[in-house]
Amino acid sequence: MKHRVYMTRLIAGPAISLIEQVADVRIWEGELPPSREVLLTEVREVDGLLSLLTDKVDAGLMDAAPRLKVISNLAVGYDNVDVAEATRRGIVVGNTPGVLTETTADLAFALLLSAARRTVEGDRWTREGKWKTWGPMTLLGYDVHHATLGIVGLGRIGLEVARRAKGFDMRVLYYSRTRRPAEEQHTGLEWRGDLPSLLAESDFVSLHAPYSAQTHHMMGGAEFELMKASAILINTSRGSLVDQKALYEALREGKIAGAGIDVTEVEPIPLDDPLLNLNNVVITPHIGSASHSTRTKMAMMAAENLIAGLQGRLPPNCINPQVPKE
Ligand code: GLV
Repeated sequence: MKHRVYMTRLIAGPAISLIEQVADVRIWEGELPPSREVLLTEVREVDGLLSLLTDKVDAGLMDAAPRLKVISNLAVGYDNVDVAEATRRGIVVGNTPGVLTETTADLAFALLLSAARRTVEGDRWTREGKWKTWGPMTLLGYDVHHATLGIVGLGRIGLEVARRAKGFDMRVLYYSRTRRPAEEQHTGLEWRGDLPSLLAESDFVSLHAPYSAQTHHMMGGAEFELMKASAILINTSRGSLVDQKALYEALREGKIAGAGIDVTEVEPIPLDDPLLNLNNVVITPHIGSASHSTRTKMAMMAAENLIAGLQGRLPPNCINPQVPKE
């Protein structure tokens, strides 16, 4: 009997074709995610689930899917999946690391440049007819070149952001669980053993830690107090690393100068969120990995992870390889 798969969204065609070679596939074709109710119904008979970071894959969903062998999450982050629960049930979980590293680092740098040089604000200003002349004091921002960048979490993406920063002659500090002496030597990064030191010294702080109970609100009121009044926060990881109310206060009160964020605590950000009233924050709609080429690579990788799991093999990119193979 052919395997059965549910996919919670349309992804790149070649990836769907690959999965269809080995499985009967049902796809949610809506632009918005399937409701919990739909999800619980659709997974009843499936062996494989291709999920997105917007789908909550928890014990309740696994209860509803007694045949489930593999969860393939189309993202590098997997905080939407209860991996411990999946492991307990012998379900392998795959993700899509590596292929989106540079694309996401590009976006982090785009946010850094936009927030520092007020490009989004300048665009709005131009369209609103406020560009009357070249003004010596108009839309002044902060220099990126030769400034100090603090990277929080030196994983793949953090490292790529650091490399980009070196091209702008920036001094790069990092605070990370694991010290990376080779990178210190080759890329000239400087390690800081605690977050407060990094925050106090940095002109830009870019978050690249994964989200977990330990990193929840790692940036809150106390942390913003430590930053320079001219500093800019960049977040392309997960919104809940930052206490968003505290970020709003810090931006409004001038405790920090600006922010560039691709992720928010609630996504999409509610239109009545006060952050949207501030000019010194640039907000993009979680598009870190959103290039044509990268999204196709992610889809192919997710398909390969899914197929491996269906066939009783370990997904090439498996988060819980300790799950016993059949
Ligand atoms: C996107 O946020 C991802 O985790 O891939």
